[in-house]
Amino acid sequence: MPDTYKKLVATQRSPDFRAAAEVVEEPIPEPGPHEVVVRNWYAGVNATDVNITAGRYAPGAEPPFDLGAEAAGEVVAVGRDVKHLQAGDAVVTSTLGGGYREYNCVRASNAYKVSEPTPEALSIMVSGLTASIALQEVADVEPDDVVLVTAAAGGTGQYAVQLAKRNGHHVIGTCGTDEKVALLNDLGCDRPINYREEDVRAVLEREYPDGVDLVYEGVGGKLFDTCVDALAVHGQLLTIGYVSEYVDGPKPVTRPRIYTKLLGKSASIHGFFLPQFAMYFGEHLRHLMELLHRDDLHVAIDERTFRGIESIPDAVEHLHSGQSQGKVVVQLNGA
Ligand SMILES: NC(=O)c1ccc[n+]([C@@H]2O[C@H](COP(=O)([O-])OP(=O)(O)OC[C@H]3O[C@@H](n4cnc5c(N)ncnc54)[C@H](OP(=O)(O)O)[C@@H]3O)[C@@H](O)[C@H]2O)c1
Repeated sequence: MPDTYKKLVATQRSPDFRAAAEVVEEPIPEPGPHEVVVRNWYAGVNATDVNITAGRYAPGAEPPFDLGAEAAGEVVAVGRDVKHLQAGDAVVTSTLGGGYREYNCVRASNAYKVSEPTPEALSIMVSGLTASIALQEVADVEPDDVVLVTAAAGGTGQYAVQLAKRNGHHVIGTCGTDEKVALLNDLGCDRPINYREEDVRAVLEREYPDGVDLVYEGVGGKLFDTCVDALAVHGQLLTIGYVSEYVDGPKPVTRPRIYTKLLGKSASIHGFFLPQFAMYFGEHLRHLMELLHRDDLHVAIDERTFRGIESIPDAVEHLHSGQSQGKVVVQLNGA
């Protein structure tokens, strides 16, 4: 094992990930009694990485702060009181700042054992858990309800589409390329909409006159407005993000307040932020892993290869270009 490792830190607050991020090298730590040291093989790239560099996850914290979130790797050192893990075990982890680093010292309770540290297993930690917990624990739906997923061919959208289909829903998915439409068809999506080719509002008004019962919404902006207008009576919109406004910041709108859209339909908007649902991680992780092992879940990994800590700004910009498909992953050491 080397003495030092590289990680990425934000040296200034900025939604410009490349400008904020800097590679630093430091000694590989010894694990505390309840910790393990993990050699990260893969790190997951998330739309929200630019929110992290912007300091929106740790208001008041002064740079430098660590970047990244989920990773898959192998345990290389185990603390004195850790009983359930040993060196050589494959694990996935998800901690703020724990992804964009070659080695990670984490509480053993935050390292989940998996059969192999693959990109697919890694993608479950944030992308999969978000869709699974939001749809299962927060959404209020009946099996034959209509569910709309935005950014449906992305990291978390692809999970939402498949899990909603498994629950018996009719699933509509928006995306921005014909290749993504093909992926959504393969995933069982009933009505993929390429918003560059078709007007989403017109499609929804024409083909779903009774409205949409549940929206899994991560794009924001005009698409959010369209989704709110498309809600059925008693419809529910889960707002999981607004990627279209992360880089430039939320734009002010001067319109009648949101209650004018919701009250007459008894509709609701429900925020969802994964870290606040940690009590469900173990159960949903096990379920998603089982589906993956049984081939009942297809995880698309974006086909562009990013290798090494230095490649991470390219990977983040690729995700924000709108061109990525499936989960964007960076390959670190060992993989
Ligand atoms: N609340 C939570 O706990 C939680 C957890 C995970 C993810 N999320 C949210 O889920 C959303 C998706 O995140 P992800 O990490 O899985 O990313 P992703 O879907 O893999 O990538 C982002 C996708 O968003 C779509 N998009 C639409 N308009 C865009 C714009 N103006 N700029 C960039 N992308 C645009 C693009 O696909 P198309 O053009 O094909 O639509 C793009 O591929 C984000 O809002 C993220 O913050 C929330």
